[in-house]
Amino acid sequence: MRAVVRERYGVPAVLRVADVGEPPAPTGDEVHVRVAAAGVAMGDWHLVTGLPSVMRLVTGLRAPREPGVGLDLAGTVAAVGPDVADLRPGDRVLGCGRAAFAETAVTRARRVAALPAHVPFTAAAAVPTSGTTALHALRSGRVRAGSRVLVLGAGGGVGTLAVRLAVLAGGEVTAATARAGAAEALLAAGATAVVDRSAGPASLGSGYDAVLVTGGLTPLRDLRRLLGARGALVLVGAEGGGRVVGGGLARQARAAALDPWVRHRLRSVVSRENPADLARLRDLLAAGDLAPVLDRTYPLAEAGEAIERVASGAARGKVVLTVA
Ligand SMILES: NC(=O)c1ccc[n+]([C@@H]2O[C@H](COP(=O)([O-])OP(=O)(O)OC[C@H]3O[C@@H](n4cnc5c(N)ncnc54)[C@H](OP(=O)(O)O)[C@@H]3O)[C@@H](O)[C@H]2O)c1
Repeated sequence: MRAVVRERYGVPAVLRVADVGEPPAPTGDEVHVRVAAAGVAMGDWHLVTGLPSVMRLVTGLRAPREPGVGLDLAGTVAAVGPDVADLRPGDRVLGCGRAAFAETAVTRARRVAALPAHVPFTAAAAVPTSGTTALHALRSGRVRAGSRVLVLGAGGGVGTLAVRLAVLAGGEVTAATARAGAAEALLAAGATAVVDRSAGPASLGSGYDAVLVTGGLTPLRDLRRLLGARGALVLVGAEGGGRVVGGGLARQARAAALDPWVRHRLRSVVSRENPADLARLRDLLAAGDLAPVLDRTYPLAEAGEAIERVASGAARGKVVLTVA
């Protein structure tokens, strides 16, 4: 069985495809998935580079503890452990797994959901983590019917899904992006307006009920100026600004400290995969209500290039590896 592996942290070029042998037969609630497609996200870049370095406390200080890479997957169940009642070999699934950039990934029954035959694997693999993160962000921002929502950084993986999910929640959504060519898909997803964020926050309007931030290190005071009196600022993530902690995490810490003292609701997203959100995303895919914007697909052997594509900021929507 071929899988993407690495022995050290570094640029995505450290990744290579190796024959790692078949995993041992599943035990307990384990599920083996023959991966058809695997979603690529900024989280994969973080795991491969080991940056910001505070995360190495979890992933391995000097070198990565796990050689494998990849989280989001869609494919066909190859084998199930004795405690798995509702999945059988041959079933189509989407979800998350350990080392998903592989021909076979090991996961657990609660981390995957059955996928109807008409949903393409590439679309399904684009959704689990980024979609769950977007759902968390909408909940943190208390987005509901009639909410005026700004998605600041709308052209990437989480942003494109957040726009669509906010529209489905009944929000009136402004999508702010600097990504070339992103506007058409965002309008098709139901955004009321697409604005160019590169002119700075002063050009993004004001009075929003919720502002979801997927990137950039815009200071909190400038972000709060976008909000109505009781609006919610939801910090999803941001790159850069420090190799040890990262500017995005530092801003999240400042927001948590400030939150009790201001009328605005200042929240940070810590997305955790869960069966309820995965089932909801699957149902939206199956109904045709959610169609992730797909930028490009890459073969397994080009996982490094795929991660570079995401990190470059040029991808419109999601990047996916096609495996089988
Ligand atoms: N908290 C969590 O649990 C969680 C979960 C998943 C991801 N994340 C983090 O969330 C962030 C987005 O993830 P992703 O997978 O969507 O990455 P991505 O596909 O690379 O998208 C990056 C986003 O950042 C936006 N951006 C970049 N510079 C910006 C700036 N100066 N001002 C405003 N927006 C800017 C981009 O906006 P444009 O549309 O203008 O290109 C784009 O939408 C990453 O930092 C990731 O690590 C956090």
